[in-house]
Amino acid sequence: MTEAILLVGGKGTRLRPLTVNTPKPMVPAAGVPFLTHQLARARAAGVEHVVMATSYLAEVFEPYFGDGSQLGLHLEYVTEDEPLGTGGAIRNVASRLHSAPGDPVLIFNGDILTGLDIRALVDTHTGSGADVSLHLTRVDDPRAYGLVPTDDDGRVTAFLEKPQTPEEIVTDQINAGAYVFDRAVIDSIPLGRPVSVERETFPGLLSDGAHLQGMVDSTYWLDLGTPQAFVRGSADLVLGRAPSPAVPGRCGDRLVLGTADVAPDAKLTGGTVVGARAVVGSGARIDGSTVLDGAVVESGAEIRDSLIGAEARIGAGAVLDGAVIGDGAHVGEGNELRDGIRVWCDARIPAGAVRFSSDQ
Ligand code: GDD
Ligand code: MG
Repeated sequence: MTEAILLVGGKGTRLRPLTVNTPKPMVPAAGVPFLTHQLARARAAGVEHVVMATSYLAEVFEPYFGDGSQLGLHLEYVTEDEPLGTGGAIRNVASRLHSAPGDPVLIFNGDILTGLDIRALVDTHTGSGADVSLHLTRVDDPRAYGLVPTDDDGRVTAFLEKPQTPEEIVTDQINAGAYVFDRAVIDSIPLGRPVSVERETFPGLLSDGAHLQGMVDSTYWLDLGTPQAFVRGSADLVLGRAPSPAVPGRCGDRLVLGTADVAPDAKLTGGTVVGARAVVGSGARIDGSTVLDGAVVESGAEIRDSLIGAEARIGAGAVLDGAVIGDGAHVGEGNELRDGIRVWCDARIPAGAVRFSSDQ
C-alpha cells in the first residue's frame, strides 16, 4: 500500500492574518481544518500511512489529528528544528517510511485543493517507470508556480520555479504540488540542510538524466495560498465543485455547523460556511464567504467573498467584499471594507470609520 508525505511546514505568509494563530493547513475550509480534506482524499485513494512534515506552529497538528485513526489512517509527525524547505522536509521524514527503495511514495503540498485522481498518478508512475512523477495543471498566469514543460510522451524536459523573465515562460503547465517519488530518490536528497525540491532536486535530477514524468489533467485545482483563493476553495467545497469526503454535511448553497445561530431571514448563498457557535443576525446577507467559529455578524450586514475570523464581530449594516477579518477583530457598524483589505487579529474599527464610497 502506497504511503504519503504531507508538506505542512510553510509559514503561510501570504495568508496572514489568517495564519497568525493557525498554520495554513489548519485554517478551516468548509467547516474542518483544510488538511482534513487532503487526508480524507488520500485515504479514499487507499493511502494508510501518512507522515506529516511540520515546522511553523508544528504543535497544533498532533493534538487535533492524533494517530489518525478517526480518519482510518496511521499518522506520524516529524518537526524540523529549522525549516528545511520542501526537499529538506521530504528527506527529513525518510526514516519513518516503510517503503522499499523501488516503491512509490506519494508527496503532497499541504495547501492544494484538487480533484486529482491519486491512483492514476501512481499508475502513471509505475507504468512509465519514472523516478519521479508530477501532477501538472494548466493555469492562465503561471508566474507564481513551477513551470513544467513536457515532451510528446509526457516526459519532463525542464523545471522552472517562479520564472522571472518573459523568456522563461515556456509553457502554461505548472507543478500542481502532488508527486510520486521512488523511495530511493527520497534517500538521495542531502540530509540535514535546507533543500528546495523545486529549485534544487528537480533541476538536479533532470541534469543527471533521471526520468521525470508529468501527468497533466484538467480536474479542479486551486492553491489556497492567498486569502481570496482560500475563501474560494472553501466555497467550492461546500458547493460540491471541489470533491472531498470530509465536508461535514451535504453539499449545497451553504453549510451551517450544528451550534451556529442563524436568523431565519438571513440569506446565506454561494457556498457560505457558518462555523460552530457563530451568530448571524436578522437580514444579514452572506455570499461565498467563510464565517469561522464564534464570530458574530450583526443584522443587515452584507458580506461577499470574505473571511471572518474566529470570535470576530461584524457590526450592523457593514459591507464587506473581498475582505479578511482576523480572529477577534471588531468591525463597527456601517463600515465598508473591500478589495483584499486585511484587518489584523483583535483590531478595533470604530463605527462608520472606513468607507470606499461617499457616505451620501
Ligand atoms: N515541512 C516543511 N518545511 N514544509 C514546507 C517548508 C519547510 O521548510 N516550506 C514550504 N513547505 C510546505 C508548505 O507548507 C506547502 O504545503 C508546500 O510546502 C509548498 O510551499 P508553498 O510556500 O505553498 O509554495 P508555493 O505555493 O509558492 O509553490 C509550490 O506550490 C506550487 C503549486 O501550488 C511549488 O511546489 C510550485 O512549484 C508549485 O507550482
Ligand atoms: Mg502554495
